Amino acid sequence: MNSDPRPVLLSGIKPTGELHIGNYFGAMRQLVDLSKSDEHDCYIMVADYHALNFIQNAQNMRELSLDLATAYMAVGLDPAHLTIFKQSDVPAHTELAWIFESITTMPYLMRAHAFKDAEAKNHEISVGTFNYPLLMAADILLYDTFVVPVGQDQKQHVEYARDTAEKFNRLFCTGITSRTNSPFNPNEYLKLHEVPKDEVFTVLPIPLIMPEVAIVPGTDGQKMSKSYGNTIPLFASREVITERIMSIVTDSSGERPENVYAIHRLLKSEDELVPLYEEHKGKYKALKDALIADLEEFIAPMRERYLELKNNPDVVIKALHEGAKKANLKAESKMSTVRRAVGVV
Ligand code: TYM
Repeated sequence: MNSDPRPVLLSGIKPTGELHIGNYFGAMRQLVDLSKSDEHDCYIMVADYHALNFIQNAQNMRELSLDLATAYMAVGLDPAHLTIFKQSDVPAHTELAWIFESITTMPYLMRAHAFKDAEAKNHEISVGTFNYPLLMAADILLYDTFVVPVGQDQKQHVEYARDTAEKFNRLFCTGITSRTNSPFNPNEYLKLHEVPKDEVFTVLPIPLIMPEVAIVPGTDGQKMSKSYGNTIPLFASREVITERIMSIVTDSSGERPENVYAIHRLLKSEDELVPLYEEHKGKYKALKDALIADLEEFIAPMRERYLELKNNPDVVIKALHEGAKKANLKAESKMSTVRRAVGVV
């Protein structure tokens, strides 16, 4: 079924709310760059079943999922050259996740950072949150994915996918069948040896993390994250950009306002920034104004495209529909091997 010889690239984002520039610089920009080079067969996913752990309102779920697909297209991911799809449109993801859950132990999953963080905060976590890494392993392994472009916080999840692939292969891919026919019948004997010894998950995925943007800082210098309230929305209006940048607390003790500089660094090279920060030493308002202007210049074209697509949702819905067809074809082909390997067919 896989006629495309290029290595597979897959990534996803949870549709849990407004995207921010941390998502863009940490993960989306690499997707855009890599998909343009045409060297990979790219699958870009709206991870709606992952989001169900957080979004438990049907209307919100629908809107946020469509919005994320719109954002993917607005930042330059072109459905003519890659597959954009919704996780829930491909039932094989949850089917494979169940199989992985059946071969995984609880202590192993308890080592997940996300689980430990939730536990440390005394949060009561859902079974879905606990099993989260295995649904993500299914997302990745269903497509024989080689490259997974993500931010640093997702690295461990890709490691879980590798481990799970190896465990599955160890358990189910011995290459020996339980044929009961007489081995002395030469035809049967030959068939016995025809059983492919290949492992089911032959490609082990690697995370692709750009070191300089592995953790994009927010307006307070901590990791940019919705839950910290320190974000700059990816399609922010000039007013919102201004409000967020002006809210940055500047520390007058250092050489330069580090929280301003750290965001500026995403947009401009050090060679460009050093003279600017030297010229405006101590003048935090001028430096913030410069950052606002640079952010506006960077965001405006994407924001325009985003608003255009928002007014034409049919374009996005059609892309998701086509994407689902293509993703299902590939996923089903892998699942037929998986089902045979575990013995349910
Ligand atoms: P999610 O939705 O939390 O985040 C989406 C992507 O944005 C990156 N990111 C950041 N990178 C750098 N600095 C930041 N401040 C920052 N904030 C967010 C994240 O690392 C991520 O790459 N489990 C995934 C979604 C997922 C997935 C997959 C990803 C589901 N299945 C299969 C890859 C492959 C998640 O929760 O991402």
